[in-house]
Amino acid sequence: DPTLLSDLQATLRDVPDFPKPGIVFKDITPMLADPRLFGRVVNAMSAPFRGQHITKVVGVESRGFLLGAPIALALEAGFVPARKPGKLPHKCIVERYSLEYGADGVEMHEDAILKDERVLVVDDVLATGGTADATGRLVSRLGGQIVGYSFLITLDFLEGAKRLGPDKVTSVLRF
Ligand code: PRP
Ligand code: MG
Repeated sequence: DPTLLSDLQATLRDVPDFPKPGIVFKDITPMLADPRLFGRVVNAMSAPFRGQHITKVVGVESRGFLLGAPIALALEAGFVPARKPGKLPHKCIVERYSLEYGADGVEMHEDAILKDERVLVVDDVLATGGTADATGRLVSRLGGQIVGYSFLITLDFLEGAKRLGPDKVTSVLRF
């Protein structure tokens, strides 16, 4: 898909000073609204993990849900939501993390991943890696194996990939 990068760059919207001064927010909604481009993104984010026997895709609330669910279907894997604390109804495990802007936590149902399952973590943006790393810790605590992390966008200057293990990280776009 040779024009994916330029089509994405023409479609994603930079919003300066959102949600806080100094943050340039990458708005993916114009991409989601374009069914052809959305499909190409799902394909590009799934492709490195085809044939890797992924059994579960974990999507991180909230923007990770939008990409994680269709990627799970594309890989014929189950989908698992990792949510902000207090949102999931069943018994949960929790991991805390600090964010590019603020601090938070992430929860997963304790029976969402079985021992030795092969897991792909999906999110829209890799910034500091705090969110993805906390999600990876949840997976590990349940006995799952992290096969990789798939992001639409990596903000290289924040060095999140270092934290996750660069060989495990794939990203369509880098800034
Ligand atoms: C954003 C983004 C990633 C995370 C990346 O989510 O969608 O999940 O931050 O930052 P990190 O690598 O420094 O952890 P946010 O918490 O803003 O919530 P949202 O997805 O619900 O918008
Ligand atoms: Mg997010």
